Amino acid sequence: MTDAAPLTIGDERVVTIGPIAHGGHFIAHSDGRTLFVRHAITGETVRVRVTDVNRKMVRADAIEVLEPDPDRVDAPCSWAHADGCGGCDFQHIAVEAQRRMKQEVLTDALRRFGRFSDDDLAALDLTVRELPGHPDGLHWRSRVTWAEDADGNRGLRRHHSHHIVPVDRCLIAADGVDVPGETRPGKVVHTVRDRTWRMERDGFWQVHEALPEALVGAVLEMGRPAPGQTWWDLYAGAGLFAAFLAEAVGAEGHVAAVESAESAVKSARRALHDLPQVALHHSDVTAWLRDIDHDAPDGIVLDPPRSGVGAEVVAMITAAEVPSVVYVACDPVALARDAADFRAAGYRLSAIRAFDAFPMTHHLETVGHFVR
Ligand SMILES: C[S@@+](CC[C@H](N)C(=O)[O-])C[C@H]1O[C@@H](n2cnc3c(N)ncnc32)[C@H](O)[C@@H]1O
Repeated sequence: MTDAAPLTIGDERVVTIGPIAHGGHFIAHSDGRTLFVRHAITGETVRVRVTDVNRKMVRADAIEVLEPDPDRVDAPCSWAHADGCGGCDFQHIAVEAQRRMKQEVLTDALRRFGRFSDDDLAALDLTVRELPGHPDGLHWRSRVTWAEDADGNRGLRRHHSHHIVPVDRCLIAADGVDVPGETRPGKVVHTVRDRTWRMERDGFWQVHEALPEALVGAVLEMGRPAPGQTWWDLYAGAGLFAAFLAEAVGAEGHVAAVESAESAVKSARRALHDLPQVALHHSDVTAWLRDIDHDAPDGIVLDPPRSGVGAEVVAMITAAEVPSVVYVACDPVALARDAADFRAAGYRLSAIRAFDAFPMTHHLETVGHFVR
């Protein structure tokens, strides 16, 4: 214990930055506390300012870099800094290095939350791959939610705050959605391979323009759905995977797509109308799994929200002895937690593919294949 006063918001300290943590933070230590620091890089010496203190953690922003890491670059966006826009937390890191750091986060999540051994990890290719089209990590977002306050001020929000930063152009956004208030007119049209989705603007769609194609490729390669088989697409959104699973299983096969958002189910109904082998279910996945009384499918695609699928859904899938489960994850920790449950139930993570689907931010997208 130290006699010094505890850290409080606004305090400044000079610290050495330790390993990367989940959520765009880097670990540092000061005053007997662990600090979660944004805008830093492992190995740097920085001056930080404390932004949040609670019983569990202290958050801080690097406000001055005293000894920079070679991977540090000038942020392309002038709003990306402490107190700036909360959207991008990796703009100060070279894009290739961002991918290496995301790989570290994925590896660490599997080790700590998935209980993977070093031997288990060595058997997996955890490389975080660049998606085509945007080598500088900019202009890839197909939609942006601009904030607006009661006085009509527009922009994007500060990290962990309702405060609106007056960002006048978002550099990670594609043309047409990169300026406040500007939106592409009418319904949003997405095309993947030869199929078109006409979506409501607020309906879920993968946000990186190149991600749907990459995910469909990974899902089909890992799952290998075959003619005549039955597959379930759980958390199906507008039926991105259901469409291509349906083409693979053919007219003799079956695909059940389960999705809780009504507008997404409507979009799926329009986009997949020519695929009678697809049954769309407007339902909560857990409730649907509890109710089903038919045979287990040959395979399942899971693409849950950030929280993951959770123990109950994993238990129902593993109890049904489904041979092949392709899991699409936007949160490596949730994936790792669910992986621990799959492994405890006798499944093996046979392959993994990670994508840098959110350049300039700490986020990544991962596809894993669990086999029984
Ligand atoms: C990450 S998105 C995936 C959508 C789709 N697979 C795609 O790639 O476009 C997750 C989807 O799960 C839906 N969802 C969230 N919780 C759900 C639940 N408990 N049951 C069914 N669907 C759910 C959301 O509405 C959203 O469409």
